[in-house]
Amino acid sequence: MIKICFVCLGNICRSPMAEFIMKGKVKKLNLNDKFYITSKATSYEESGNDMYIYAKNKLDEKGVFYTKHSSKRLEKDDYNKYDYFICMEESNIKNALKIFKEDKENKIIKLLDKDIDDPWYTGNFEKTYNDLVKGIESLIIKLN
Ligand code: 4NP
Repeated sequence: MIKICFVCLGNICRSPMAEFIMKGKVKKLNLNDKFYITSKATSYEESGNDMYIYAKNKLDEKGVFYTKHSSKRLEKDDYNKYDYFICMEESNIKNALKIFKEDKENKIIKLLDKDIDDPWYTGNFEKTYNDLVKGIESLIIKLN
């Protein structure tokens, strides 16, 4: 089982969207047993909060199933619980490294070569959704 934790700043937009998009794709491909997928934040800013309403609206529009979410911050002991921490942007990598202190097993990676814009600030959930799908499709190919 490959254990994946998507990481963003608040864990209410990009990383939970990525979590549910990937869960949907994995289910369609009958790969449920191969992946454990979750998501976390690098900040406590939104701790306990559900996915942002506009993120949920975008998933609804695209037919992506999701369940109730609760934002959680990444903690130091998470390092040993997952195989990959898949970040949305460079600052997530920097902040995850601050939490873990080091990344001996090179588990921290970025979903795309470029940064994925934070729709909390840009308001462009369509662009973020499309970037997430692109990254997740190549991630599944890479890991499968
Ligand atoms: P996310 O977006 O990192 O994609 O979940 C954000 C949502 C909320 C905040 C920052 C980013 N915030 O600081 O409240």
